Amino acid sequence: MNLEQLEQKAKESIALVQDIQGLEKWRIQYLGRKSALSLFFNSLSKLSLQERKKQGEKANKIRKILTNLYSSKKTELEKDVFESNKGSSSLLDITQPGDKKTKGHLHPLTLITRDIVASFEKMGFSIIEGPEIETEYYNFDALNIPADHPAREMWDTLWIKPKTKNQKSKMLLRTHTSPMQVRYMEKNQPPFRIIVPGRCFRYEATDASHEIQFYQIEGLMVGEDINLSNFKAIISEIIKDIFKHKVSVRFRPSFFPFVSPGVEVDIKQEIKGDQSNDKWLEIMGAGMVHPDLFKRVGYENNRWQGFAFGLGIERVAMIKYKINDIRLFFNPDIRFLEQF
Ligand code: DAH
Repeated sequence: MNLEQLEQKAKESIALVQDIQGLEKWRIQYLGRKSALSLFFNSLSKLSLQERKKQGEKANKIRKILTNLYSSKKTELEKDVFESNKGSSSLLDITQPGDKKTKGHLHPLTLITRDIVASFEKMGFSIIEGPEIETEYYNFDALNIPADHPAREMWDTLWIKPKTKNQKSKMLLRTHTSPMQVRYMEKNQPPFRIIVPGRCFRYEATDASHEIQFYQIEGLMVGEDINLSNFKAIISEIIKDIFKHKVSVRFRPSFFPFVSPGVEVDIKQEIKGDQSNDKWLEIMGAGMVHPDLFKRVGYENNRWQGFAFGLGIERVAMIKYKINDIRLFFNPDIRFLEQF
């Protein structure tokens, strides 16, 4: 076969091709499995080694030329199709607005938790996690809340059915993140500062401000001379960091069996020209760690003191994002979630 002639013929005929279908026919004729070129390749095996090499090289060169011809013609034709369809609806109308792809995003509670955790990290706090299924001991007794203590009524508890009759400690869904105070102190010596973010559960009728599940961040800082003023300074800084504007913080005396004294922490936003926010809102309980807890975990007598707090994450999110119903967080209503 005359390869030069073949090349010449292929070039002449591709010049006449006018559309994609014509080009496909050309491809089959010149590069397809039954094309003269392919048959030529098949016949090479009959030649001597030297001749095979020579003819093979030649044929490969031609094949490369034809393949290049094919792809540049294809690009050219596709461009023509695109140009001629521009503005018409037949194939592709690039003047049409595209489909907006909706992207998912993080849940508002995840966003606010990350913000709060990042603020505490800046202040040197370590992040610790604990179990959602707790023992009665860590959730209550270790925190000075024995079974007959009236304070147990502050935490409506979801108990877990015991597996066996003589199970040592009853199991429950933790009603707060405070059990991690004792769990952590049992294994670590002061000084330290930690926070424990996590989900808690209460057996409660739900309404705009109560849910059976919610999130808390427990905090615990213990050292030789830690006091409530340190707590107030740290928490004021954190709150300012989260709300990004001035926020006043105040303490009200309160009672929690595992701290003494105990306080309730209220905040009030101070936004210039916005009077709608100027109410005191409760965001957490706190206090100085009760000496009983230090004793229980075996710390040296009278050496350590520290503060603890339990911050309600939903409370912070509701204040920051002006949400008036806690149930919205766990209700899969896309209209609510889309606002974030
Ligand atoms: N655990 C308490 C609750 O859920 C909140 C709390 C109060 C945590 C005082 C503390 C604290 O660490 O010191 O109601």
